[in-house]
Amino acid sequence: RLDWCILGIESSCDDTGAAVLRGDGKILGEALASQAGIHEQWGGVVPRLAQEGHKKAIDETVEEALRRAGLSAAELTGVAVTVGPGLGLCLEVGVRKALHIAAEYRLPLVRVHHMEAHMMVTRLPPSPLPEGFAAPDFPLITLLVSGGHNMAVLTRGVGQHIILGSTIDDSIGEAFDKTARVLGITQVPGGPHLERLAKDGDPKVHVLPRPLSKTRDKALMDGCDYSFSGLKTAVRTLVEKQLPSAKASALAEEDLHKAKADVAAAFQNVAVQHLCERASRAAGWAMELEPSTKWLVVAGGVAANKEVRKGLEEVAEEHSLQMRCPPPRLCVDNGVMVAWAGIERFLLGLYEEPPSKTGADNHVEI
Ligand code: KG4
Ligand code: ZN
Repeated sequence: RLDWCILGIESSCDDTGAAVLRGDGKILGEALASQAGIHEQWGGVVPRLAQEGHKKAIDETVEEALRRAGLSAAELTGVAVTVGPGLGLCLEVGVRKALHIAAEYRLPLVRVHHMEAHMMVTRLPPSPLPEGFAAPDFPLITLLVSGGHNMAVLTRGVGQHIILGSTIDDSIGEAFDKTARVLGITQVPGGPHLERLAKDGDPKVHVLPRPLSKTRDKALMDGCDYSFSGLKTAVRTLVEKQLPSAKASALAEEDLHKAKADVAAAFQNVAVQHLCERASRAAGWAMELEPSTKWLVVAGGVAANKEVRKGLEEVAEEHSLQMRCPPPRLCVDNGVMVAWAGIERFLLGLYEEPPSKTGADNHVEI
């Protein structure tokens, strides 16, 4: 494994990521091109623009990762690429690049599931290795909390996942982003900015409805699924009612900030409570199916949120689970997680032979 060099490519949303990892997980080189500044004016990621951004960045990002690793593409052992889920137009750019390199240098190709990569990166041994480091082993419970997904999963092994719950409408990341917009936050994604705003607020000033607490669907009420759209709408109604009146009464900027911060704090509080309540139930279900489960892995962009982490740490404690999040740098979309998930799949023989150079039969389903 020590002489393996795997290139990982990520392009499922708005970050173009590439990394070269040694078989044991040592990061040899990585590069990330963010599209910050491109999507702000549209209030969300625009697939066409994102695709253009990836097309512009992909060659340089891959080259940069290889340059930092001090390697040429000919020296690679294999190529791993995110094939989904994500924006089709964007995934295509990374997949094309991966196919091209794999065909050119006769390298095996590993298809990587984006969410599995978010989860698997917690098994990547950090460098330097902290004393007593233990990689989360299977079976484990994963909570995926990102912009695109919101899932509680029991994982028995690579590619062996049981979905215990997912969202019936928005993901928690989407709810953070949409609520941020309602509160006048213009940066994309708005989630981390909403967290910052919420720090200045008091979560008790407003009472927002607890999601799924009034549904007539008993299975939904007692299950592990999530719902965030009602909460988002409740925030919009609250803002429409309260904030214009704040403007009309010519509130000083400071007071307006405080008014918004109170709403942000109330939203975050209820969102985190809902997340944790359902996560706790999912943990209970998972432990029934696999009593030897010891780990709660929390992955995806929203895992960067401090309140989310705090709440989930309590859930882990309640079920005697050990919680593990990727380091914040690897919580966002990146090439490292794809390369590492690729290595884990590679080890199990889950790869494809090098694609043909003519390109005639080069097709990777997205
Ligand atoms: O995993 P990720 O980078 O991309 C995918 O969606 O796959 O997650 C991005 C999401 C966005 O919705 C972003 O607002 C959210 O993660 N996020 C946060 C925080 N940091 C990132 N949400 C709340 N608080 C944060 N600190
Ligand atoms: Zn992601």
